[in-house]
Amino acid sequence: MRLIETMSEHNLDKKIGFIGQGWIGRHYADDFERRGFKVVRYAMEAPHNKNAEAIKECDIVFIAVPTPSTPQGFDDSILRQVIKCVGQGKIAVIKSTITVGTTENIQAENPGIFVLHSPEFLTEATAAHDAGNPHRNIIGLPIDNPEYRQKAQTVMNVLPYAPYILVCSSREAELIKYGGNNWFYFKVVFINMLYDLANKTGARWEVVRDAMAADWRIGRTHLDPLHKSGRGAGGHCFIKDFAAFQDLYQDRVGDPLGIELLESMKKKNIDLLVSSNKDLDLLAGVYGQEVIAKNQNKKTDQKAQSPVISLVPQRKKAKCLVTGGAGFIGSHLVDELIARGNEVVIIDNLLTGKKENINPQAKFFELDIRNFNAIRPIFEDVDYVFHLAARPRVQPSIIDPVLPHDINVNGTLNVLLAARDAKVKKVIYSSSSSVYGFQEKVPLQENVAPNPASPYALQKYIGEQYCQLFNKVYGLPTVSLRYFSAYGKRMLMEGAYRLVIGIFLQQRLEGKPLTIAGDGENRRDFTYVFDIVRANILAANSDKVGSGEIINVGRGRSYSVNELAKIIGGPTVSIPDRLEPKETFADNSLARELLGWEPTMDLHNWLKEHKKEIGIKDEEAVEDLENELHSAIFADDFLAADKREGDLTMEDLLQDNRRDF
Ligand SMILES: NC(=O)c1ccc[n+]([C@@H]2O[C@H](COP(=O)([O-])OP(=O)(O)OC[C@H]3O[C@@H](n4cnc5c(N)ncnc54)[C@H](O)[C@@H]3O)[C@@H](O)[C@H]2O)c1
Repeated sequence: MRLIETMSEHNLDKKIGFIGQGWIGRHYADDFERRGFKVVRYAMEAPHNKNAEAIKECDIVFIAVPTPSTPQGFDDSILRQVIKCVGQGKIAVIKSTITVGTTENIQAENPGIFVLHSPEFLTEATAAHDAGNPHRNIIGLPIDNPEYRQKAQTVMNVLPYAPYILVCSSREAELIKYGGNNWFYFKVVFINMLYDLANKTGARWEVVRDAMAADWRIGRTHLDPLHKSGRGAGGHCFIKDFAAFQDLYQDRVGDPLGIELLESMKKKNIDLLVSSNKDLDLLAGVYGQEVIAKNQNKKTDQKAQSPVISLVPQRKKAKCLVTGGAGFIGSHLVDELIARGNEVVIIDNLLTGKKENINPQAKFFELDIRNFNAIRPIFEDVDYVFHLAARPRVQPSIIDPVLPHDINVNGTLNVLLAARDAKVKKVIYSSSSSVYGFQEKVPLQENVAPNPASPYALQKYIGEQYCQLFNKVYGLPTVSLRYFSAYGKRMLMEGAYRLVIGIFLQQRLEGKPLTIAGDGENRRDFTYVFDIVRANILAANSDKVGSGEIINVGRGRSYSVNELAKIIGGPTVSIPDRLEPKETFADNSLARELLGWEPTMDLHNWLKEHKKEIGIKDEEAVEDLENELHSAIFADDFLAADKREGDLTMEDLLQDNRRDF
């Protein structure tokens, strides 16, 4: 049951109601309003409590009210009560999480309206963004007939675009939500156990975690044992949805081994939450206050035997200032610093950065780095400065070199002055491979003379030089990282200054031919944004850098524009060539040596997953090419790694039967 139709102007005539204005209902209502719909909000609190009558007039009413799991069991009484406010013949869409069979049941109780279920998938920290950019639109029907499917289509038409849409039975929709949340619950508990094991066996947790995250089947989310205020699966959904799931499983499946496993999971998670003081109020709401007291007593008894586990064993929490923290790379860096338990402040004037990229746990100052007096006080007590704010990209600087110069050179000077005055521990400067410009040979090594080919490249080079100078003259610890074309989520997909990956993906999505400049044989080394983030953190932590070093941060493999077009797929068209360097290709051995850094992601692997996520479907030929590339890259990497170990040839490797190809 798949329906495909996009929103059109006439859908804006639909009057949309929202019952419940907690963080879910509010963010959904805001999104509808942003997209031009007439919205009525009804809730217990003023001013929305007056709108009960107006809700009756709404064509579609989304309901997002609490459905708590309590010590007495699952409670959907509020939902059953408020659904009575929906007008006769209108559509009610339950967004609240409900146990399997509830939609059917509520439909039977309310025969005069159409009841559908559409699970919500908002993440607390990014709810505003998620509401407008869903990955999935799922609608569950209590009755499968043409009339209900038509109603589902009506709802689908007013939702924002999602790459995945599904109309299914309401039981399936209800279970999908439990499936997702409880899957993450299991993952969090397991990751906490693995983390303890890493600590006990002397393995570095961050190394284990990052290598696991590089496997797409595992993914990066929910891999941090310390999350927000403590350990364990917490938040408004995980605790209550697990409790509901446990009851449901016991009731409908009843397998004693499964029941035992779920009970142990619950106990382990409660123990994690209680011992780290995380979300105790939410825990008490689901299981009662006694569960906390009981576990706290147990902890006191155990304290004498087990050492307290520090989540960041070697380093204490640091205060980090990220300039450009609302931008593409900066926002990922902020997220990671926070996930590692650091305090983060951001300076960004939102020139190219976006508010929705900003991690709500960071302190944000909307300021311009060109204004020295305004930014200077923010550097007080800062340990590390990650300087990413810039007017990036080559093309804008060619069109108008003055503004980028002001930001990239004068702004950088201000950041260095403020960092010097505040005596920060280190400045990590974001430089660019464009500094190399036209060169005879690749791979590019840090010791070749820069040959900038654009104002932007020259400005980034001046920034590096200033970093070295500040180290020599004022003793300010600095290090410059030269990034090679970054890619990843949140990269620019629109506007004139997108990078080639963004342009091609957008063209493919719009069914347009991919525009290849010249012969398409220019080659670029593409680097995954999370690898760049790791390089920044390693550079802050490494005792080997701080004297103005300049270090390449690049994957160490280049793709031609033609190859990239093949991986992205679809027809191509030629456009005039541009004057730009033929190839960027990093020699990344210095990063390996000084930072202990390794790239973890290859572009074609990322694209394979990302295309699926944004709804691009591949033909077999593209998939074959991806598989070919995968084998070639795997063999190359293997050879490169072993060359570093002891100059083995490919033949040596193939003979070496200890290795598992
Ligand atoms: N993306 C790449 O491929 C790449 C490659 C090499 C180097 N870099 C460097 O990495 C850094 C981050 O690049 P990005 O791709 O994330 O770009 P981005 O445009 O997404 O981020 C830059 C951020 O700086 C902010 N900013 C701009 N001018 C400012 C000012 N005057 N005051 C305060 N904030 C300001 C912007 O609002 C934005 O949030 C830049 O220094 C860039 O030169 C990027």
